[in-house]
Amino acid sequence: MEITKICCIGAGYVGGPTMAVIAQKCPHIQVTVVDLNEQRIKDWNDPNTDNIPIYEPGLAEIVAEARGRNLFFSTEVEKAIDEAQIIFISVNTPTKTYGKGKGMAADLKYIELCARQIAKVAKQNKIVVEKSTLPVRTAEAIKSILDNTGNGVQFQILSNPEFLAEGTAVTDLLNPDRILIGGDTTHEGETAINALVNVYANWVNRDKILTTNVWSSELSKLTANAFLAQRISSINAMSELCEKTGADVNEVAKAIGMDSRIGPKFLKASVGFGGSCFQKDILNLVYIAKTYGLNEVADYWEQVIIMNDHQKRRFSNKIVQTLYNTVADKKITFLGWAFKKDTNDTRESAAIYVADDLINEQAKISVYDPKVSRNKMLSDLDYLGTRTSDENINSLTIFEDAYDACKGSHAIAVLTEWDEFTTYDWQKIYESMHKPAFVFDGRNILDAKKLESIGFVYKGIGS
Ligand code: UDX
Ligand code: ADP
Repeated sequence: MEITKICCIGAGYVGGPTMAVIAQKCPHIQVTVVDLNEQRIKDWNDPNTDNIPIYEPGLAEIVAEARGRNLFFSTEVEKAIDEAQIIFISVNTPTKTYGKGKGMAADLKYIELCARQIAKVAKQNKIVVEKSTLPVRTAEAIKSILDNTGNGVQFQILSNPEFLAEGTAVTDLLNPDRILIGGDTTHEGETAINALVNVYANWVNRDKILTTNVWSSELSKLTANAFLAQRISSINAMSELCEKTGADVNEVAKAIGMDSRIGPKFLKASVGFGGSCFQKDILNLVYIAKTYGLNEVADYWEQVIIMNDHQKRRFSNKIVQTLYNTVADKKITFLGWAFKKDTNDTRESAAIYVADDLINEQAKISVYDPKVSRNKMLSDLDYLGTRTSDENINSLTIFEDAYDACKGSHAIAVLTEWDEFTTYDWQKIYESMHKPAFVFDGRNILDAKKLESIGFVYKGIGS
């Protein structure tokens, strides 16, 4: 089957960049990304590609090249579904906030809605691809909806999880470690798998394209994220021990990372991991394990989240304790709000929780982040529901300039590892602050010795 038309439902952090790269690399395929959110589509169509809704290095250039040629952003969901041979589902699957599995299971209402819409509209056979991370056996649920409510057309469901990391989405998409495609082992299933393999083979070496059954593919995505998050919680656990024993977690990470069996990546101790995937996927894994009565398995993985929550709280506690056990009315400046550098995404960012803790202690928080908007920061805090919007507005001041944000503050907390923070004139910042001036480096990116020689009291993670 020669694929000439693809549609992607969901123009978010996964759907947008992934489809932009497919369109760039496959000029013979028309790629249409649809979303219910009109503003989001309007932003993707902004003539100035610097204004597209997702910031990722290199993405604006790719959108500029492909948009209008074979890449389209639209709110006409049904038209795009009708025309496409392959439909990617890239909608959000947040953790459930109600009912059975509340706080753990993935909320599949958006996925189900997509499946029902596809079933309603499709008049020809289609390949439906799960791109969003989903609990194991979701494909089965999608298939059941499609087969029982559709117009008698044949659907093949594939699982093709996306492994891109935000901030490096474009390079990850252009040079993936692997592409994973799970599908039915029937003849029709294999034909569908091949059709998708051929799309990726336009730029990815076939050796790197793995095909499996659907369940293995779905579970591999959850497992990969759980292992990555586990490494961070493991090194963060060690960071607390380092602080008590006089060891330095950076030195420990380097020493163990040189063991080729362990490897050097993902060993940076931090204020705690954030992002839309790690916590959600582990909770999902825990929920699935519990559903099958595998309580030890569930408890094992849940500990990764418990450790991460502890690390965030430990960071805010340390700020309060160090500032003589009170931060009431003290100005504390956050450098960074995004959950990692090079993204404007703030989902589950440690900054939100640390800010919440410190505001509970009546601190006044100033924030500078090069890519996150004021409204986003305030809505992140509002979403927690700890206090009213007006109270949040009174407690959080957002600056466009880092030096202005730091002026007159008692302490600086580095929440995101933006490169620019390391290039600042720290002498100038020191002079503008209350003394003693504290720096809490939640990312261990600043030069401790240099800051101490200026006069700062420097506190990193795990040293
Ligand atoms: C992750 C996976 O890496 C990716 O494969 C999957 O598709 C989606 O989830 P992402 O959440 O975008 O990607 O970013 P990632 O680079 O994994 O970082 C997640 C969090 O862990 C960030 O808050 C980051 O700052 C933190 N982190 C990462 C650490 O604290 N220490 C590290 O060593 C690495
Ligand atoms: P992710 O990080 O998984 O890409 P996002 O929240 O960034 O998640 O993006 C998901 C997008 O999916 C949102 O823009 C949302 O509006 C869109 N969406 C959710 N349900 C539907 C639907 N039924 N039809 C079209 N778009 C949808």
